[in-house]
Amino acid sequence: MSTRSSDSGLVLGIESSCDETAAAVVRRGREVLASIVHSQVDEHAPFRGVVPEIAGRAHLRWLLPVVDQALERAGVGLDDLEAVAVTQRPGLIGSLLVGLSGAKALAFARGLPLVGVHHIEAHAYAATMEHEVAYPLLALVVSGGHTALYRMSTPTRLDKLAETLDDAAGEAFDKVASLLELPYPGGPSIARLAEGGRGDAFAFPRFAPRDGRLGFSFSGLKTAVLYTLRGQDAASPPPAGTLARADVAASFQEAVVDVLVAQTLAAARAEALDTIVVTGGVACNARLREVMVAAAAAEGRRAVFPRPAMCSDNAAMIAGLGWHLYEAGVRAGLDLDAIPR
Ligand code: KG4
Ligand code: ZN
Repeated sequence: MSTRSSDSGLVLGIESSCDETAAAVVRRGREVLASIVHSQVDEHAPFRGVVPEIAGRAHLRWLLPVVDQALERAGVGLDDLEAVAVTQRPGLIGSLLVGLSGAKALAFARGLPLVGVHHIEAHAYAATMEHEVAYPLLALVVSGGHTALYRMSTPTRLDKLAETLDDAAGEAFDKVASLLELPYPGGPSIARLAEGGRGDAFAFPRFAPRDGRLGFSFSGLKTAVLYTLRGQDAASPPPAGTLARADVAASFQEAVVDVLVAQTLAAARAEALDTIVVTGGVACNARLREVMVAAAAAEGRRAVFPRPAMCSDNAAMIAGLGWHLYEAGVRAGLDLDAIPR
């Protein structure tokens, strides 16, 4: 591969790890010139979850149109780019491969440096693109596939402090939405239904690890919702009309929010970190935003959230973190592998 001398600071980012096909052009890790996201939600909705085979095919269909649109909107050509950054891990293997193959082809054809990006670390970085933050800070990444806390020392240095023992928070929203027969994706559906319900109607369990350690678990909560809706043996539902679904949704949401906020603040105290960034699809949740910001402020800490479009999957965060990796000298070869975990 030839090396280029462009110093435009422009990075093309490509994201295809799950059910969003996305491309973005970002200058020097921060200035978003274009960010295009093609969501496959409509294609997966009938199955109440992401179908890997459908996702892979849809990425193939949408990758190049989305890249073209990002370049056009940014008003730049491939020759103006300084590097190509692509999500390498984690994600659905067939989906990751589509983005990686496309990025490699572009890099090879134009002699552009290629950088592989970790999707979760890019979510954490996204929050720092929109807010002035001082490092080190605490990052909570809370999405459909991940729920984890990191000590972030620089844009490229993250140390994991805790993660979920079972389901991710977004996965719990999606599964409980399915129990409530709400449309996929479950997070926004539950949040909407919860607006008309009482968050204290049901005392759902709040998981906390023993010995004051950090960690998350949502599978017990999901089971508690199942029992509430269908009875202890999951076959003797309460009499029709006695159960307000909005109350179930609101109480479930309240339990998830409580656990996320309690563990995040415990980590902030333990690590003596005053700045907290919260990102990932679940960070779109208005109740989580409200409670986290207030609870952090009550302790003299600051919690910041990116705007919703930067919380859920996008390629601006890939191009953004990709710039910092590129600046640090990271280069991938054309043998760069997709890693599902
Ligand atoms: O970050 P993301 O777009 O994809 C992954 O990397 O997983 O997150 C998607 C997840 C889904 O589980 C979705 O239900 C959840 O984020 N989500 C929400 C909300 N909006 C999206 N969860 C709770 N409240 C929301 N408003
Ligand atoms: Zn994600």
